[in-house]
Amino acid sequence: MPHPDFPNLTVLDHPLIQHKLTILRSRDTTTKKFRELVNEIAMLMAYEVTKDLPLEPAEVDTPLEHTTGSRISGKKLALVPILRAGLGMVDGILDLIPSARVGHVGLYRDHESLEPVSYYLKAPPAQAERDFFILDPMLATGGSASAATSQLKQLGAARCRLLCLVAAPEGVQRMLDDHPDVPVFVAGLDRELNDKGYILPGLGDAGDRIFGTK
Ligand code: PRP
Ligand code: URA
Repeated sequence: MPHPDFPNLTVLDHPLIQHKLTILRSRDTTTKKFRELVNEIAMLMAYEVTKDLPLEPAEVDTPLEHTTGSRISGKKLALVPILRAGLGMVDGILDLIPSARVGHVGLYRDHESLEPVSYYLKAPPAQAERDFFILDPMLATGGSASAATSQLKQLGAARCRLLCLVAAPEGVQRMLDDHPDVPVFVAGLDRELNDKGYILPGLGDAGDRIFGTK
């Protein structure tokens, strides 16, 4: 159900997602466990986010008889992690959707200005007919997610969704202002940003916690 304050936002409140998110937030969660949890939550989120994908009839022979089943129609969907922390969500979703294509958007947030700096872009072709899932654990000011979405749209991507583990209201509003056509799915909507652009209560620096770089 869309959030009352943000028409673009769905908070995925499945008990398994909420339980795992709480462990993820803990400062005592190890790098190994953090990485596992990011993938598990991403997989559970993908299960919810894909529930409106269109189906088409598919013929199948069972060992007993011929019947008509269903298969997902259209181009294979594309996962596009925002480097580097978004990489942590890819394997979990690929476990669920092994045929998905994977693109990459390279962006980092300048520590002083908090503005995104772009360094890489590669996306699967046939952008207009494909569903794109943009992946990033953190939606803080929204600068990175908005820039990534703009870059994909410039390549022709017409159907984008954003999947984040934790969002600040500022980032959701930024996506609503810049890309009102892009639904945003999160596991948690947090209170605010601090003066360094970190989400409160948040989970710290997602990239550092996934890759053990701090
Ligand atoms: C983090 C995070 C997002 C971005 C969110 O990445 O993974 O990409 O910050 O902030 P924003 O909404 O204010 O743009 P970071 O720049 O730290 O790069 P990293 O993933 O390489 O660590
Ligand atoms: N990026 C992170 O990794 N964490 C935050 O809280 C904000 C941006």
